[in-house]
Amino acid sequence: MSLPTINPTQTKAWQELKAVFEEEKDITILDFFNAEANRTENFSIQFEDLFLDYSKNRISAKALKSLIKLAEDCELKKAIEAQFSGEIINKTEGRAVLHMALRSSENLNLDGEDLKDAIDRTKAKMKAFVEKVENGDWKGYSGKGITDIVNIGIGGSDLGPQMIVDALSYYHNDLKTHFISNVDGDHVAETLKQLDPETTLCIVVSKSFTTQETLTNANTVRDWFLKHTTQTEISKHFVAVSANVNSAKEFGIAEDNIFPMWDWVGGRFSLWSSVGLSIACSVGYNNFESLLYGAQKMDLHFRNEDFSNNIPVVLGLIGIWYNNFYQAESEAIIPYTQYLQKLAPYLQQACMESNGKGIDRNGKTVNYQTGSIVWGEPGTNSQHAFFQLMHQGTKLIPADFIGFKKPLNDLQKHHDILMANFFAQTEALMNGKNEQTVIAELKASGKSNSEIKELTPFKIFEGNRPTNTILFDKLTPETLGKLIAMYEHKIFVQGVIWNIFSYDQWGVELGKQLAKAVLKDFQSTDNSIHDPSTQALINYYKAK
Ligand code: F6P
Repeated sequence: MSLPTINPTQTKAWQELKAVFEEEKDITILDFFNAEANRTENFSIQFEDLFLDYSKNRISAKALKSLIKLAEDCELKKAIEAQFSGEIINKTEGRAVLHMALRSSENLNLDGEDLKDAIDRTKAKMKAFVEKVENGDWKGYSGKGITDIVNIGIGGSDLGPQMIVDALSYYHNDLKTHFISNVDGDHVAETLKQLDPETTLCIVVSKSFTTQETLTNANTVRDWFLKHTTQTEISKHFVAVSANVNSAKEFGIAEDNIFPMWDWVGGRFSLWSSVGLSIACSVGYNNFESLLYGAQKMDLHFRNEDFSNNIPVVLGLIGIWYNNFYQAESEAIIPYTQYLQKLAPYLQQACMESNGKGIDRNGKTVNYQTGSIVWGEPGTNSQHAFFQLMHQGTKLIPADFIGFKKPLNDLQKHHDILMANFFAQTEALMNGKNEQTVIAELKASGKSNSEIKELTPFKIFEGNRPTNTILFDKLTPETLGKLIAMYEHKIFVQGVIWNIFSYDQWGVELGKQLAKAVLKDFQSTDNSIHDPSTQALINYYKAK
């Protein structure tokens, strides 16, 4: 069993959806509310401490029913089982996709290997490592304990851990955690300025251990250590997370200090594996386990719940509705917590590296839109930045608003203001402000008739801008695990329906290849290697 290869546009449900769209495209969200007394109840899902309200969407019960039918016609259930049971669903790389196994309590056998056993052994190794560092028993070259952890990696070996470490700042222990990812030397230089080599421990995270940025940064950091201590002592300051043990050893990392990564865990889904070592170091091993536990709960919900009550499925289908029928190009992620300031960059890789594909699972060019552009920033800051365009611009931007009922710090007044803004924004996006109200307000403010006439068009808000509200009780490691797993599964749902392979990323290879060639060509005197524009730019750069 592998993934189905159904062109979604050829299904009966797609034809139905086209008809529903034609019938309903001019109906506003407010019209839907007016026509349906129980819309809020009907368009919301409670799962434990997670409440999803998707009633503020341009979607009717009829459209939703056809979207669910689309999921059925595209054999989503079969696809979910294929994924969870370890089928080789990442066909172009010949790999299973089993990041869920990292947070599962079930046994799973893959090609005769007991995954649970391998995972449990790795977790035990992570736990022992974290405790040793936390307790001060892991000593640097001068005998001092560790104060600072540096994660050196990029893409999935950086974004996930960095986002979680930042999101869980409230739960941090005394260790300081840093991330070096960009090959821009200023990134490593500025980070090293904050560090003392005697008390710094680096985690080199690279599944392949061939990534140019990571190896360049790791070598620079090693040179920095070598200014202070000897080659032999340096092993006290480096551990690695990699599937390529030999290369990690060649770099000089002791075999005992190499944590495994598996073929069946994709980079952008790897924070649950030993790639999450920096997370476990910064919040303690038990909190890391709670993160996994939350994700496991979402996995079970996703695997077992009916589609109509299944949060990742419903969110995935709503995304398809806007992307493929309303032709929306992007979606915004607006967390109302500063702790989730790195969520959007993380989701950009998770969503866009996964579903930014134009070839379907039959190897044919798709003739419909796939992956949407994901972007966002926390509220309320974003309200003072790009919300103008969301309220009055010409583009349709469906948005996820993510909030928490309780604050972490004891500043309830702030939290009430924050959440008042949250609810006000989703209300304003939906309701807008009509001409009558604008005129009445201008009159009340004492404007003359001619001023009112002139100003009115600028002050009207069309409204009818869709949002999902995702509310948790409180930001904890467990709720964060649920939230991230929810988005992972949403990505999968959409990839299955779009009939694309979500777990490869061939599109990043060409740039990598060319960067190596260009670097070599910096030394060349041949002026005809590249296209005229690129060659002229290289020459301009070389003339420094
Ligand atoms: O950007 C492409 C990519 O392969 C990502 O998928 C991956 O997360 C990142 O590079 C880092 O790869 P590695 O962990 O092998 O260094």
